[in-house]
Amino acid sequence: MNPVFQLKNQSLYAEDVSLASLAKEYGTPLYVYSRSEFENRWQAFDQAFGNQPHLVCYAVKTNSNIAVLNVLAKLGAGFDIVSQGELERVLRAGGDPKKVVFSGVAKQSGEIRRALQVGIRCFNIESHAELDRIQAVAQQMDKVADISIRVNPDVDAKTHPYISTGLKDNKFGVDINTAPELYRKANSYSHINPIGIDCHIGSQLTEITPFVDALERVLTLKDRLAEDGLNIHHLDLGGGLGIQYTDETPPAIADYIQALITKLDDPSIEVIIEPGRAIAGNAGVLLTEVEYLKPTEHKNFAIIDAAMNDLIRPALYQAYQDIVAVTPREDGIEAEWDLVGPVCETGDFLGKNRKLNLKDGDILAVKSAGAYGFTMSSNYNTRPRAAEVMVKGDKAYLIRPRETYDELMGTEQLIED
Ligand code: LLP
Repeated sequence: MNPVFQLKNQSLYAEDVSLASLAKEYGTPLYVYSRSEFENRWQAFDQAFGNQPHLVCYAVKTNSNIAVLNVLAKLGAGFDIVSQGELERVLRAGGDPKKVVFSGVAKQSGEIRRALQVGIRCFNIESHAELDRIQAVAQQMDKVADISIRVNPDVDAKTHPYISTGLKDNKFGVDINTAPELYRKANSYSHINPIGIDCHIGSQLTEITPFVDALERVLTLKDRLAEDGLNIHHLDLGGGLGIQYTDETPPAIADYIQALITKLDDPSIEVIIEPGRAIAGNAGVLLTEVEYLKPTEHKNFAIIDAAMNDLIRPALYQAYQDIVAVTPREDGIEAEWDLVGPVCETGDFLGKNRKLNLKDGDILAVKSAGAYGFTMSSNYNTRPRAAEVMVKGDKAYLIRPRETYDELMGTEQLIED
């Protein structure tokens, strides 16, 4: 599953660095990323396009540490952002604003202003009201905003309902059937330049068909717009390619891209994609220590030092992430354990009914934690956020120290009364 996280000398390694040694040096919970995995996965997307004009815009929300963004920026990556905060991260990481696309349903005027000021590539517009606002801000600044309209192709992504975005019931995008009207409006605006069509149908898709179905609908719209005299320069097909967490069999990156290019059948149009999980997911693990074993009559609980505030996916989506011992024991016997955290909620678990051979003090690795792990973490229960380390070959770099209590509450104020 994680080719870069492998057993060597009976212990798990990230590239050439022992995870046990990292847990000892930096403590737990600890996120550990493999730099080469980030690079290889981004390059796999980039290379799969061959001669088709394209831009692979990494979805920043997936894992937004500036060291990660910098590694990708050095390869020439574009970035898909959803907030000014993410834009500032990209800029700090040395990313090229001209390769930034701005998604999201609620862009604020200040965010639009900043994006126009630094000269991003394109706004992905999600509503009539947003189009009006971008026109107004661009006019004030005497700039022209390049835009695409995010259409909702009403395709079932066959994924978890919380991460399915391309259905009529979802808040995202505009109905593909009414999109031509919005394009006409956009075209009539003085400070708006419609250059693309955008769609994103969901996340953790493990089949190619929904992507191709969505593209087919987008192509129909493109033809319709051409009849209206509006020529589209790029298609942004969003992110969404799934990864293997356990026994899923997602398509290979190359097959997914090839299917899109084949359907497109037009070597002149530029394709933008916004993958996140497929780049970051299996580039990271979360290390955690077993604090206490608490066998009961009904269940065996292993209480670990990582919790739902560190990795919320199991609690929020009932997501399954593989959990393995960093140094598997040769003594003792396997039992079934629920791996639960210190947070005061019954939903605070990282795995249930896992067959493991455990003792307190053991270090475990929660796999496939590179995507939507740290970025969704919080301070719930006043828990400092975990540290993050990036490994390159036999070197480890601390890319975010563990949060201190001062950082956590240092800006809070007592009222003088
Ligand atoms: N583009 C847009 C407009 C998006 O909304 C997303 C993800 C992506 C690209 C990247 O999608 P990806 O390639 O990673 O599937 N927190 C959830 C996933 C939420 C996805 C939100 N949008 C999880 O942990 O499963």
